[in-house]
Amino acid sequence: MKGVILHGGAGTRLRPLSYSGPKQLIPVANKPVSQYVLEDLVSCGITDVAIILGETFPELVREHYGDGSKFGAKITYIYQGKPLGIAHAVGLCEEFVGDEKFVVYLGDNLLQHGIGPYLKKFQESDADAMVLLKEVEDPRRFGVAQFDEQGKLVKLVEKPREPPSNYALVGVYFLTPVIFDMIKRLKPSWRGEYEITDALQMLIDGGYKVDYAIVDGWWLDTGKKDDILYANALILDERIKRRIKGEVKDSRVEGRVYVEEGARIVSSKVRGPAILGKGCLVENSYIGPYTSIGDGARIINSSVEYSVILGGATIKNVIRLEESLVGKNATIIGEGKKGVMRLHVGDYSVVELG
Ligand code: DAU
Repeated sequence: MKGVILHGGAGTRLRPLSYSGPKQLIPVANKPVSQYVLEDLVSCGITDVAIILGETFPELVREHYGDGSKFGAKITYIYQGKPLGIAHAVGLCEEFVGDEKFVVYLGDNLLQHGIGPYLKKFQESDADAMVLLKEVEDPRRFGVAQFDEQGKLVKLVEKPREPPSNYALVGVYFLTPVIFDMIKRLKPSWRGEYEITDALQMLIDGGYKVDYAIVDGWWLDTGKKDDILYANALILDERIKRRIKGEVKDSRVEGRVYVEEGARIVSSKVRGPAILGKGCLVENSYIGPYTSIGDGARIINSSVEYSVILGGATIKNVIRLEESLVGKNATIIGEGKKGVMRLHVGDYSVVELG
């Protein structure tokens, strides 16, 4: 089976960070979201993977993944450019896919237990497609499923105002090449996109077999700042073990904290779960739970909690920074200003509070 990762799109809900890079490269626990996706595919034995590139700095994606060998995969890049829709992106993969079954994985989706448990079901079935569903409180921001009395999937609607159920479409689609015939007949939706939801509906209406599985465990679509912070907290909580490779001087490091090589913690306190990237500096500061500090970042005379600080950022004299997403090489100077700061700061930005 082959895999397709969608790495395009506009990322409007993650501005300003998505102005200077694709949103799927934003790290949680110091690893790009889309890398969890690739690792999930590879761990299921899907190593022949196409990555669909959008128009926001696609070269950063190539730079990170290369030919895929570092990740145990063989990567083919397919350029989509403008975000004309998930179905449009999938349509570009016809040649790559050939006549095999394949799985499309949105590069900003994270599943607690990965796709392994569902993949086997699809591989062994004669279904023409299989979708994953998850019960959510407010399904209006997703594709939503409708069932008949026997529990058979009869309809899929994209972002309905009045959802027919609470079962949202997860961004993982198990497909067969028959989907390409549907995609060719699609018209753009009300939001001007070629919707995979509509292509799947065409399969249902055409009498094809569209199966579903309900996802067990958490699922996150990391399309917004709060989702990134939440994903970061969940991943740190579940996957970070205590390991100290860097230097700790006159400091206390409590709980599950991963301190990478070359990192320095001086006269500070760090409470896990947290990760401190390579070569970063934490000096005279407090790092609270659910915080990721990127490579080479510097936290000086500050307190940071429940936040994602990207590589190379500097945070200085900030009394309390919480629930914040701070871009690459950004600088935040607090000048000791009192009160809690909650910031969403783009790459290379400079914020001086005072
Ligand atoms: O996350 C699950 C939801 O994903 C589903 O419930 C919806 O049915 C599905 O339409 C999709 O909704 P979103 O509005 O969240 O899709 P978004 O525009 O955020 O795009 C999803 C991913 O696909 C994202 O990583 C960007 C990428 N993408 C998107 C478009 C429109 C592309 O690579 N190319 C595109 O043209």
